[in-house]
Amino acid sequence: MIKKRVVILISGRGSNMECLIAACADPEYPATIVGVISNRSDAAGLTIAASKGIATFAIPHKNYETRSGHDAAVHETLRSLAPDVVALAGYMRIMTPEFVEKWQGKMINIHPSLLPKYKGTHTHARALEAGETKHGCTVHFVTAELDDGPNIAQATVPVFENDTPETLQARVLVEEHVLYPDALRKICK
Ligand code: GRF
Repeated sequence: MIKKRVVILISGRGSNMECLIAACADPEYPATIVGVISNRSDAAGLTIAASKGIATFAIPHKNYETRSGHDAAVHETLRSLAPDVVALAGYMRIMTPEFVEKWQGKMINIHPSLLPKYKGTHTHARALEAGETKHGCTVHFVTAELDDGPNIAQATVPVFENDTPETLQARVLVEEHVLYPDALRKICK
């Protein structure tokens, strides 16, 4: 089997990244992780990826005067890794439309809500405030509009009366960790 080359973009903890790496350890899984890029050099996920022998790249956005300058640096590193798929996993940067266009159709993201509901941040608190009885997560293709591209897969969790944003987030995260490897498998096949 020829495996698809995947680069993961992160900003922090990297628990979704870790699940993708774990999935790729299966010889039957159709993808391999060829690099992890972070816009923060202190991202815990970089240490995890490096400990698993994966090439890591810190490209701090603070070192660039403009958003497009930082995106261009990320683009060059991506190009050098020649990925078939770019997987955003907690990458907390708004990207320029020019950058997105270059990777459109190849770039996917995981978002902690049932899109199109609750784009952006604080999704769990907003779902609770709205009195939702269901919440969840979505893997979608990335387009220039934030959290807006075509859906690939979704998972739903119940919302309980005594939920806080933290308990709800934890319930959704368990589903994210299953959904993202499943969705990546689906698009790599
Ligand atoms: C996840 O909840 C993901 O859906 C969102 O950011 C969080 C990243 O968590 N985009 P982690 O870094 O994968 O642990």
